[in-house]
Amino acid sequence: MTDVLTHYINGERVKAEAPHESLNPSDTREIVARYPDGGEAEVNFAVDAARKAFPAWAEASPEVRSDLLDRVGDTILKRREELGRLLSREEGKTLPEGIGEVGRAGRIFKYFAGEALRRHGQNLESTRPGVDAQTFREAVGVFGLITPWNFPIAIPAWKTAPALAFGNTVVLKAAGPTPATAAALADIIFDSGAPAGVFNMVMGTGRVGEALVNHRDVDGISFTGSQGVGARVAEGAVKRQARVQLEMGGKNPLVILDDADFDRAVLCALDGAFFATGQRCTASSRLIVTDGIHDKFVDALAAKAAALKVGDALDPETKMGPAVSEQQLRQNLSYVDIAVSEGGRLLGGGQRLSLGKPGYYMSPAVIADTTQAMRINREEVFGPVASVIRVKDYDEALAVANAGEFGLSAGICTRSLKHANHFRRAARAGMVMVNLPTAGVDYHVPFGGSRGSSYGAREQGFAAIEFFTQTKTAYTWA
Ligand code: UN1
Repeated sequence: MTDVLTHYINGERVKAEAPHESLNPSDTREIVARYPDGGEAEVNFAVDAARKAFPAWAEASPEVRSDLLDRVGDTILKRREELGRLLSREEGKTLPEGIGEVGRAGRIFKYFAGEALRRHGQNLESTRPGVDAQTFREAVGVFGLITPWNFPIAIPAWKTAPALAFGNTVVLKAAGPTPATAAALADIIFDSGAPAGVFNMVMGTGRVGEALVNHRDVDGISFTGSQGVGARVAEGAVKRQARVQLEMGGKNPLVILDDADFDRAVLCALDGAFFATGQRCTASSRLIVTDGIHDKFVDALAAKAAALKVGDALDPETKMGPAVSEQQLRQNLSYVDIAVSEGGRLLGGGQRLSLGKPGYYMSPAVIADTTQAMRINREEVFGPVASVIRVKDYDEALAVANAGEFGLSAGICTRSLKHANHFRRAARAGMVMVNLPTAGVDYHVPFGGSRGSSYGAREQGFAAIEFFTQTKTAYTWA
């Protein structure tokens, strides 16, 4: 069954010709949805609607905003199995991963239903006697939200929910490969009683994002995607003094020290590198392993990776689904070739698989004998490709972990309190994990990186208020 999707503008489902297709990456004979090719005209229409809806929404009782988000969260949670199935069919992550992501999206809306009531300010004594100083958090205006395909409901949720909670209105751009999942979220927001214009979604390609970035009436852009596109988004937004927040790539190190709990370290690497088919900006793609444990660790990881059953995302036996697209699959395979040509030793995987149906399948790759100087350790692959760097001790491991231009997430597996504590402080990354994979985060705490990985205020949890509100300072003598 192929859905024909619409735009969501000013409280209406706006039909248009639908020339684009979203395919099931597990079996590309199946077209999941057809979707329209929006551009400047649709973005103008949506931004106008969002602008008109803004004053009433910003001034509404926080209870009104809280109730809407709560209803959206409840509905998502109630429908998590069905929506998880759609997500897995469209994006390719396994069904448990798809259902898990939908659950996360529901929880995010529930969390921000609470945050809507906590838009608090401060009361201070002025330095001038008799004067009060106060701060208020105010809504900003219209936000353009540009989202990627790898978390097709959770990322739209963690941008939309705080924007709406704090009184802003939204125009969301869904990702090209996963529009049906985004449309399911838009349907829920519409059907939960969002006033016309408060939430809008425009379907299409990069032109939609570009129009949002350049629109003078869009007050802020929140973007998750590649570094290349992120740089253009920042340039466009800063040029017209819009606020901007970017979450981009990672080349996340997972350090394994000799004293690590061995089985746990192998599982952390397996999960971090290969779950969700490695299509996470937080994936553990550089495994930095000390001498004493190196050979045993690499053998165990390669054996576990070889045993991961690759298959159709909806098959209950499947442990790793396909890549999202032919282009992504080719990129993954070409990085395996690049690593080998640079001197890496392929321990297994890295092959395209034909599983009796047309899909973007490959076996997870483990590549040993790599060095930090190689491209495989400097560029984001965004697929199930893990490279191993051998180091002599903790100090060298830390130096290698901190090399490169990214700084999203960094992990360490060790039983040493001293090294764990030191790493938490010294790792140059926005998120640090001890005895955990670099990927897999909570929704109520800040998310984001340093250096080439992120730009602007943190996303998610209690930090989201920074980006989605502006502060007013009031002085009163009475
Ligand atoms: C996670 O690791 O749970 O695009 C979340 C990404 C990130 C989200 C990762 N923004 O992969």
